[in-house]
Order: sequence, then structure tokens, then C-alpha cells
Amino acid sequence: MTITRFAFPTPIHFGAGARKLVAAHLLEQGIRRPLIVTDRGLAALPVLAEFQSHLKGLDVAVFSGVFGNPTCAQVMAGAAAFKAHGADAVIGFGGGAALDVAKVVGMMAVHDGDVLEYVWDHPQVRPIVNELPYFVALPTTSGTGSEVGRSSVVSENDTHHKRTVFSAKILARAVFADPELTLALPPAVTAATGMDALTHNIESYLSPAYHPLCDGIALEGLRIGAGALARAVAEPGNLQARADMMMSSMMGAIAFQKDLGSVHACAHALGAVCDMHHGLANALMIDTVLAWNHEAVPKKFDELAHVAGVSGGGFAFIAWLKHLKLQIGITGGLAARGVTREHLPRLVPLATTDFTTGTNPRPASAADYERLFLQAM
Ligand SMILES: NC(=O)c1ccc[n+]([C@@H]2O[C@H](COP(=O)([O-])OP(=O)(O)OC[C@H]3O[C@@H](n4cnc5c(N)ncnc54)[C@H](O)[C@@H]3O)[C@@H](O)[C@H]2O)c1
Ligand SMILES: [Zn+2]
Repeated sequence: MTITRFAFPTPIHFGAGARKLVAAHLLEQGIRRPLIVTDRGLAALPVLAEFQSHLKGLDVAVFSGVFGNPTCAQVMAGAAAFKAHGADAVIGFGGGAALDVAKVVGMMAVHDGDVLEYVWDHPQVRPIVNELPYFVALPTTSGTGSEVGRSSVVSENDTHHKRTVFSAKILARAVFADPELTLALPPAVTAATGMDALTHNIESYLSPAYHPLCDGIALEGLRIGAGALARAVAEPGNLQARADMMMSSMMGAIAFQKDLGSVHACAHALGAVCDMHHGLANALMIDTVLAWNHEAVPKKFDELAHVAGVSGGGFAFIAWLKHLKLQIGITGGLAARGVTREHLPRLVPLATTDFTTGTNPRPASAADYERLFLQAM
């Protein structure tokens, strides 16, 4: 028997109003000058100002230079803002993009070089040697679960290839998961990010690695998300549906410390080549890739169906996912989003060499990816 290591380390404050606990928590740690790292879109919305109104007793600065699929340059600008403020902590406030940047802003404020030199597969990867500033995370979307993950996905400035800093050192020291922060999330973002959460739970469970703890979390995360996503889209003000999606999203991200698979390999490529939103990319690929995966792990698909409350087994589960996509307004395939055959020479090699390809339940070759992309068009 091999020895496996398991860790679920992040303290999570979950529930409506959790955002109001941040100030006292930071003051208790002796923090006085936090930097909020958030995205451009959120900075213009009332939700950020409302959150800031609860940060009494702290000298707060805001860096809102995050947008799109975030780049290394955005991280370096955030690190400069941290130093300019003389900050002593980072508050990540936003979706996966803002939280991924927030995770490494503190790191780059106390380390030399460019963030790209710290990505796990850099040929001369630099170690994280210095103590990182205190970091708390508040998700405002329910999808990536980045708040509980140990990876930060940032794109190269020129190529937009997604690169990952992966280390337990960049984990949030505490998460304040407040579903009220997602009440104003527009339906299209709720839908796309929610599909990301479902995909994390599904792909993590399907991957062949040995991790029964994550498998249990993934199945329960799917059960909760499957019951809530359509309602969160149809009734944006439904706090219970929002809370369920936030929980499903965190569970998906805790579960995928186990692994992901080929849906994500395709989504990473679509993000790099077509600048597509990550959750939308997963949503556009998921049924095609899962139908192809089915023969490798049919019993696991039956289990997914059972957990999602779908009768009829694994293929019925995939059909249910297709229907769910229509129900939440994700219609059409890749072609409808501007992806053409001309993109294939760049999409296929990226997906084939993506780190998630190795943990898909069915081995996927370049020819397989070409077929899958064509089918999803
Ligand atoms: N670290 C990880 O493990 C991990 C996992 C998956 C994806 N990612 C990364 O996460 C990013 C995607 O994150 P995302 O799906 O959360 O999208 P996002 O962070 O890009 O946000 C999507 C949009 O929603 C807006 N928004 C966010 N919160 C809002 C709110 N409460 N009200 C209104 N608008 C709001 C944002 O301004 C933005 O325009 C990608 O960069 C992807 O690579 C990271
Ligand atoms: Zn994802």
C-alpha cells in the first residue's frame, strides 16, 4: 500500500453576513493596513463600497486592476500597490480572477523577480522562501472555489497561456464565504460560474487517483449544486440557492485538489486561445467530453446520476446536464461563441499537454481532442 497525504486546511466562515466579521478578524491578527485586491467590474458596483463600510478601524487601500483572464502584469501591479500602501495584509474580494491575483500579490510583494518565475513548471522555478503577508479571501462568484484552493492561475502577458503557481503557502489563512455577496451576480455569470463548480465536482470524482475523502466531498458538492443552480439563475435573490451554490463551489475546489480532467484541459485551451470565460468554456465542453469519457468509468457515471437525482443512469445524467445548460441560458456550441476550425491547431496541442489531461479517466490523444472540439462546435 502506498502512503497518501490528505489536507483540508482552510478555516471557513460561511453564511449570510460573514463579510462583517473580517475587520475584527484582521484586527485580532494585529493587522492595520490591508490592501483589497479586486476586479475592475466589481470596483464600480455597490457591493465593494458596502463591504468596505464594515472595515472600521483599518486603513484600507484598494487595488482594482484585475480584469478578464488575469495576467502576470496585473499581479506585479498589485504587488506595487501593496508596497505603495505599506500594506500588512491582502483581502481578496471577487471572483476567481481577483482571488487568483490576490493570492500571489502578497507573495510578489516580498519576493524578487516576476510571478512567472514561481509557476510550478518553470524550468528554474524559484522557491517561496519568505513569510507571506496575511491573506483572507471573500468569493463574490460561486464557481472556481479559488478561495479554498492552493493554486493561482495567471496568464502570460503576451501569449495568454495560463500558468499556475501551486503551493500550500498561498492558501488563504481564512475564508469569509458570504452568499449575500453574490445576490447581484448577473444570471449569465451565475450560470457560467455555476457550471464551473459542477464541473469541478464531477471531474474530481471521475479522476482515477486514490482520494476517497475528496470523492465524498465531490459527490455531496454535486448533489447540492445540482439542486440549486437553475434556481440561483432563475431567482437571483434566492439566498438559499446562492448559499448552496457557494458551498458547492467551495466543495468542488476542495475536491479538485485530487484532480481534474479533459473538460478542464479544453477549457484552459479555450481561455488561452479565444480568451473565453473559464466557466463558460467548461459549460460548452462538458457534455461532449463526458459522453466520450463514459465508457471508461460507467459505474461512476451511474453514481453521479444517482447523486444528482437523475433516474436512468450515466447517459441520463449527461442528458440532464445538456438540459440544465439550456435551462440556465447557455445555448449553442463553441461555433456560436466564435470558435472555428482555424483555432484547432492552437487549441489541440494546448489541451493535449494540459496537466489535467493526465488525470482524465480515459487517455486523451491529440486526435481525440480534435474530435471533441469539432463535436462541441
Ligand atoms: N485558482 C483556481 O483554482 C481556479 C479554478 C478555476 C478557475 N480559475 C480562474 O478563475 C477565473 C474565473 O473566475 P470567475 O469564473 O469567478 O470569473 P471572474 O472572476 O472573471 O468574474 C466574472 C465577472 O463577474 C463579475 N463579478 C464578480 N462578482 C460579482 C458580483 N458579486 N456581482 C456582479 N458582478 C460580479 C466580475 O467583475 C467579472 O466581470 C479565471 O481566471 C480562471 O483561470 C481559478
Ligand atoms: Zn474550473
